[in-house]
Amino acid sequence: MPNTAFVKAALLNDVPPGAPVEVTVDGKAIALYNLEGTIYATDAACTHAHVSLCDGDIEGCTIVCPLHFGSFDIKTGRAIDPPACDDLKTYETKIQGNEILIR
Ligand code: FES
Repeated sequence: MPNTAFVKAALLNDVPPGAPVEVTVDGKAIALYNLEGTIYATDAACTHAHVSLCDGDIEGCTIVCPLHFGSFDIKTGRAIDPPACDDLKTYETKIQGNEILIR
């Protein structure tokens, strides 16, 4: 995915609060999160063993991995709880009409 251009990831209506939504953008699995109306995007794969974080639970501003319960800060991608120790890649988001764009 180019670093400079925003690309469409999903429709805003498809990313309600409460659970992450996995989309594929330019062949890459991305997790989208709606935290009180603000959309965040990270890589979907846990940095520990590459399962999808979209099967995990949002707790406050963190996503908890469903496999070993490592957790990450959704806003920054920072690994918070072991065994996850490598940070998640995050993406800038913006809303245009009813579309979520990321880069
Ligand atoms: S696969 Fe996510 S913490 Fe192990």
